[in-house]
Amino acid sequence: MLRPVSHRGTGSEPATDRAGGLRAPTEAVTILRTVDALRAALLPARRAGKTIGLVPTMGALHDGHLSLIARARQECDVVVVSVFVNPTQFDEQSDLDAYPRSESRDAELAGGAGAALLFAPAVAEIYPQGHTTSVHVGAVTEALEGEVRGAGHFTGVATVVLKLLNIAAPDIAYFGQKDAQQVVVIRRLVRDLNLAVQIATCETVREADGLALSSRNARLSPSERLRAVALHRGLAAAQARATGGVSDPAQLLDSARAAMAEFDVVPEYLELVDEDTLEPLQALDRGGLLVVAARLGQTRLIDNATIQPADALRSTHATGRETELCSA
Ligand code: PAJ
Repeated sequence: MLRPVSHRGTGSEPATDRAGGLRAPTEAVTILRTVDALRAALLPARRAGKTIGLVPTMGALHDGHLSLIARARQECDVVVVSVFVNPTQFDEQSDLDAYPRSESRDAELAGGAGAALLFAPAVAEIYPQGHTTSVHVGAVTEALEGEVRGAGHFTGVATVVLKLLNIAAPDIAYFGQKDAQQVVVIRRLVRDLNLAVQIATCETVREADGLALSSRNARLSPSERLRAVALHRGLAAAQARATGGVSDPAQLLDSARAAMAEFDVVPEYLELVDEDTLEPLQALDRGGLLVVAARLGQTRLIDNATIQPADALRSTHATGRETELCSA
């Protein structure tokens, strides 16, 4: 079901004070640049039987990232945030070059949200000369983002995440539902390779109008920013039809497309898929994942929502079960 909008700052400590200035950090974060230094820093905690949480990021931290860090801090004794703009997952050099970098601000925000360690390695530390090994997750990487961005994208993601898991060896690693296909890929990686880590997924943090927070939002012009709400409105329109009893995916997707068209936005893809296999659903007879991507000018945005058939919603209401913010 399309979950209620989590306004900026819910699920995490606010990143800014009322005047919009940066908050003073509640904890100092230690920045580590090498694999050996991170492992050495974690050793005493590991030996003491403390739990370690890892939040992998590419930096330019916003409240979405901070909600992951705050959740990790609630559940783990020591939280490591990695900040690494991973070149192997970018399909366009210009996108990699334009990726925002703000390490000292990231360190301050990560510390404020509860991280003890910030792992910020150079590219050569992660991919030393002669590096030739990568990991390819099959099937679930092929459609949607895999199709648009090319097969190399998720190979880059899976490889760097596997490396970060091996380097930090966390008990729990935290990812955002915002990148729903990425979560499916990582869960498959963990399952297929028997990795000894728990994967936790956290709900998408949104702006007040519903736009999912993303470091790419900063690239939107003022008029594009107004139109960017189209993705969330499209998802909400399809959810409303499903709640009204429609289970035909074509009709649900038509509603989403019509709602997006009101903002003059045409989806690059818009699909209702199985939550585990990402294969298109023939009917909404069980929960599904509605995924959407759209370009606004130079900026590419993605969003998604879980969607339930009307009878499942009725029984959920009957049992009074509430949507959880995060799920393990
Ligand atoms: P990045 O885009 O920096 O995102 C880091 C984590 O924050 C991801 O798990 C992402 O899903 C989550 N996230 C981003 N926006 C969010 C939002 N609005 N609400 C909740 N969570 C949000 O995703 C990556 O980096 C990389 O692919 C990475 C996994 C680090 C591998 O390089």
